[in-house]
Amino acid sequence: MTNRGQFNSRLGFILAAAGSAVGLGNIWKFPFEVGAGGGAAFVLVYLFFAFVLCFPVMVAELAIGRKTQRNPVGAIKALGHQRWVGIGYLGLASGFLILSFYTIVAAWAFGYFVEILLGNFEIGNHFTAFTTNWLKIGLFSIVFMGGTAYVVSQGVGGGIERAAKILMPILLFFVLFLVLYALTLPHALTGIEFYLRPDFSKINGEVIYKALGQAFFSLSLGMGALITYGSYVSRDTDIVRAAAVITLTDVSIAFLAGLMMFPFVAYMTEGDLLQMREVSGGAGFIFMTLPGIFQSFGGLLGVIIGATFFLLLTFAAFTSTISLLEVPTAYMVDELKIERKRSTWIVAGLIYLVGIPSMLSTGSVDFFTQFITFPGTGTLNFMDFVGLLANDTFLPLGGLLISIFTAYVWRRNNFAAEIAVGAGKGGFLSMYVGFAISYVCPVILGVITLVTICNNFLGVDISGGLF
Ligand code: PHE
Repeated sequence: MTNRGQFNSRLGFILAAAGSAVGLGNIWKFPFEVGAGGGAAFVLVYLFFAFVLCFPVMVAELAIGRKTQRNPVGAIKALGHQRWVGIGYLGLASGFLILSFYTIVAAWAFGYFVEILLGNFEIGNHFTAFTTNWLKIGLFSIVFMGGTAYVVSQGVGGGIERAAKILMPILLFFVLFLVLYALTLPHALTGIEFYLRPDFSKINGEVIYKALGQAFFSLSLGMGALITYGSYVSRDTDIVRAAAVITLTDVSIAFLAGLMMFPFVAYMTEGDLLQMREVSGGAGFIFMTLPGIFQSFGGLLGVIIGATFFLLLTFAAFTSTISLLEVPTAYMVDELKIERKRSTWIVAGLIYLVGIPSMLSTGSVDFFTQFITFPGTGTLNFMDFVGLLANDTFLPLGGLLISIFTAYVWRRNNFAAEIAVGAGKGGFLSMYVGFAISYVCPVILGVITLVTICNNFLGVDISGGLF
């Protein structure tokens, strides 16, 4: 076998996979979905899906990767099921598309870090001016993509693993630092209460649907990122335990992000519940409202807290973009036999080009800003369109196909045998994984895929208003 590289240690692998999982999804999106979706009630639904549905899919991806030591396309071929190879290509397409716009949002975070470091807190009031300044965003996103490509070009052990080993501890430290600071703010406890007080009346079909999508995206599932990372894992690793640790880490960081964000919200609104509900609104909040809050901490402290926050966001995004870029890179290396450095830069360049319309879709160019209208979505800009296609549709579809493939094509006994390698005699978790991948995952992911397609693209509400 060609020298594809390997993770040097179990810890390195877990940090890299957790790095893939922990991203903009955890820190940017999660807290506000919780706020909007019934606080602790949403967290419970999210946790349920993370462990009951996502965890088995993660084990399946890791097992396919480790068994075959190939990228998603090569892996399906290597298992001898050429007809299912579309799963691999779907994964490549998802990675390609997600990375194209994810880089742009990451570039905003990176740009904010630089601006705040320079003392420019006004940036929050000029969000649109900032995102439509294509020269600046172009530059920040080139640097970001260049950094990602550099790490990936250095290989699995020397690049990806090393970056994760450096960045993940820093990331954790930043989160804890910001949580501790946020908890000292006036009204912090009101914020936490708003974040976590369970309101079960808010749990409806849509909230469940959101929690599920969030868990799936946040754990980097459905596109073969973890097939690819799994392909660099040694055979003495217990992948069931590893997947449990990765899931727990991801969920914990998302939870901590909420503990940091809601005291900020409460501080700004002086604990006014109604206002808290109004301001906490995803993209808008982080990029438009937060800089002003940081400014109000005053002088150097504001710069330190603000810069730390946006650096945290940048690092979280970075370890995710590394895994997104690794998927098509591994494909080029394994299947097209193109040397890694070269593969990396070619793919990164292509994805960067595909991302340009997203970069121009927040107001710079009308054509991309009002790109397309579906019956169920209203008019979407290019970036949201790609998000709808890749995040909301391709990922659950990919997860569905991976589950069916694992349980019924590769077959459950082969899957079980692969899990057992490095794990000794399988316990309850392994048994559950086998059961879930055959029944729970295909059913739930099938429903989600169907609902997404019908509701958004066709505008047909097949759930009777439930979602
Ligand atoms: N899990 C990442 C996040 O939460 C996004 C991601 C999805 C990364 C799919 C890799 C693959 O931001």
